Amino acid sequence: MGGFAPCPPEAVAAAAAVCGPVSLTGITERRGTAVWRAVGPLGGAAIKLGYGAEGAEITAREAATLDALPDYTVVAGRSGADVWYVTPWLDGPSTWELFRPVRDGSQDRAAPLADAVALCRTVADFHAAGWVHGDLQPAHGIHTTSGVRLIDFAWSWREGTDPWREFNGGITHLVAPELAARIATGPQPVKPSPAADVYALAGVLWTCTTGRWPLDYEAVGFTVKDTGPAELRQAIVTGIPLTGARPWPQFQSVLAEVLTASASVRPTAGELAGRLSEVIP
Ligand SMILES: Nc1ncnc2c1ncn2[C@@H]1O[C@H](COP(=O)(O)OP(=O)(O)OP(=O)(O)O)[C@@H](O)[C@H]1O
Ligand SMILES: [Mg+2]
Repeated sequence: MGGFAPCPPEAVAAAAAVCGPVSLTGITERRGTAVWRAVGPLGGAAIKLGYGAEGAEITAREAATLDALPDYTVVAGRSGADVWYVTPWLDGPSTWELFRPVRDGSQDRAAPLADAVALCRTVADFHAAGWVHGDLQPAHGIHTTSGVRLIDFAWSWREGTDPWREFNGGITHLVAPELAARIATGPQPVKPSPAADVYALAGVLWTCTTGRWPLDYEAVGFTVKDTGPAELRQAIVTGIPLTGARPWPQFQSVLAEVLTASASVRPTAGELAGRLSEVIP
């Protein structure tokens, strides 16, 4: 689809019902979903549209997840074959944004460290409630004045329910090796797991610190832009060293332990929070 997809009038009306008359700003559009920020006199909302068979299914699933989560509210509907939902806009910077001073070389790291710990605790709470996020990314933690909130539940799964028909592990750069192996060789369907979320969580914090995905693909002869996700996952199974930059050695050594541990001995999100809270900023 060229340019931004048109936002369905039904979704705009649903946003206006909570925010008053809204104006829209396009935020992202890729792989069958588009997100707008709707702002009106009474507040802000995120509108997500899923189009095409896959985009519509993913968005319907995400709306169902938001509906099941006690801390979120959602209104969802269809516009022809497309699926949309509206949920309150969460105000605050992402973890990626909060780590900008670290990437720029600042030694004043007490605040980003506290933010990292808070993100881990939010993931721990999510796991304790029986959920797995499935696609943690540097932009998927929003640090609001009332705590860190996760977004983008497109691949989230509640333990004890049927797994999704197909799950490819969220963003490929943060797929845990055991999950990459299971995607390649089964058994299917693949289930996301809390342990794989913790790998992604450590990878998120590594990426926020260094500005690069955690694995040094070039060291094993891969050029990311020439490598498809399946081939990249195969390399992840085989083993790729971590990138060499260590701008924050103590913080990164905690993360490196998580990123190199096998799933069975990987710490939980709560344990990672505890280990990071002992780091000297
Ligand atoms: N409820 C929300 N509150 C604040 N920001 C939001 C909200 N929902 C989405 N966003 C913003 O829109 C961006 C895209 O949303 P989201 O990650 O859900 O879409 P996506 O199409 O799945 O993107 P990707 O495939 O890259 O993960 C987020 O990174 C965030 O900046
Ligand atoms: Mg996203």
